[in-house]
Amino acid sequence: MSYDTVIKGGTIFTPTASFVGDLAITGETIAAIAEGGGLEGEKEFDASGKYVFPGFIDPHVHIHLPFMGTNAIDDHASATQAALVGGTTTLIEMICPGPDDEPRAAFEEWKQLAEEGACCDYTFHLSVVRFDDVAKNQIRDLVANEGVQSFKVFLAYKGALNISDDNLFALMQMARELDVTITAHCENADAVDLMQKQLLAEGKTGPEWHEPSRPRCVEADGVNHLCAFAELTGASVYIVHTSCAAALDRAIEARRRGTRVMVEAVAPHLVLDKTYAERPDFEGAKYVMSPPLRDAEELDALWDGLADGTIATIGTDHAPFNFRGQKEMGLEAFTQIPNGIPSIQERVDLVHTYGVAAGKIDLRTLVNACSTHPAQQFAMFPQKGALAVGSDGDLVIYDPAFFSTFKHAQSLSKVDYCGFEGMQRKGRAELVFLRGCLAAREGAFVGKQAAGQYISR
Ligand code: URP
Ligand code: ZN
Ligand code: ZN
Repeated sequence: MSYDTVIKGGTIFTPTASFVGDLAITGETIAAIAEGGGLEGEKEFDASGKYVFPGFIDPHVHIHLPFMGTNAIDDHASATQAALVGGTTTLIEMICPGPDDEPRAAFEEWKQLAEEGACCDYTFHLSVVRFDDVAKNQIRDLVANEGVQSFKVFLAYKGALNISDDNLFALMQMARELDVTITAHCENADAVDLMQKQLLAEGKTGPEWHEPSRPRCVEADGVNHLCAFAELTGASVYIVHTSCAAALDRAIEARRRGTRVMVEAVAPHLVLDKTYAERPDFEGAKYVMSPPLRDAEELDALWDGLADGTIATIGTDHAPFNFRGQKEMGLEAFTQIPNGIPSIQERVDLVHTYGVAAGKIDLRTLVNACSTHPAQQFAMFPQKGALAVGSDGDLVIYDPAFFSTFKHAQSLSKVDYCGFEGMQRKGRAELVFLRGCLAAREGAFVGKQAAGQYISR
């Protein structure tokens, strides 16, 4: 029997094992996997000496993002092409409406933009900023009829995106009833607001003051707060972009009390420390995100959390704002610097270089954190996140021997800098397939425009 496409002789990572063999795709679907090989196809790709991974899933991405008085600079074409060349075949974008916007209209707006531009597959977490009767009814409808299975709350960003405790409680009760997940940005919004005002009044205006304005205890407090509400309501929660041991500890304690809590780390927190945000001549603004980059010791705490399973997933929190003209909005005050460190293209190579090749995590942890666990947590498994017969033909032939440095010149995102410029890079997604079609080759996008599909969950 001959298949459409056969990937030959690579080390294949199925959900339960890894072995050298062949993998066959027919149409958009994985049709056969044979340990030892022996499959034949009309098109054949040699993967000997390479890994064959399931297509990676980024569980935390911003593309269309009106935020802090400006708009993120990528569109769905640029962000998803950057994702694909980095090995990411599915992403979960945060829909971030403003406080007056209706959830249904926001869902339609974001979905239409993605339909017009996305080159990889996608689904959404819907931010809940208002929770009146109109919003409640629309949210129920989106869960029942549009396959929305996860929501986002901001405990940070006072006066902009943050949710009141009344609304948080009611939303989490509804989430429990509907069996959907609440993802949450956890920082105490009032504490951050007060610290920011105090620092600015003292003339501390540069990007190096961003971290002191929202120290570790502020994040740990936010996690504790969310977990208390999860304990009260029984809702399942997912803490995004956890940056430090203190926050992780609060999540672990809550889990020991029986609360359903999952933890995400994001690529910038795993490889950059706060000295980047302290770089002179406003260069530090490139490294302003929230929660902020921390002391170097926190990076090890995050890698340890991944290695021992307390952290389940690795996303990016890709939030692309140009240095020129956008980050520069905060030249007079760090509170006006749009938050975000883009990494949608670099995520898997960063995790491979600074996690696997550095001996901090193994390959199975990389596959789980960057693909399988996001699929399982967000109701896409085994359609996504698995090399298995019947799963979508999303896969990456990964060359672990590739050696280079990260360079903005190779970035497909529209953002005007790379936060990892000049850092060592070990490994590359050599070939990337989306539902059986070749979408990226050696760092170039070779797929179809707007071929991405919405995943109704
Ligand atoms: O700094 C960040 N994280 N920017 C994007 C918005 C958010 O908080 O996720
Ligand atoms: Zn956030
Ligand atoms: Zn985010």
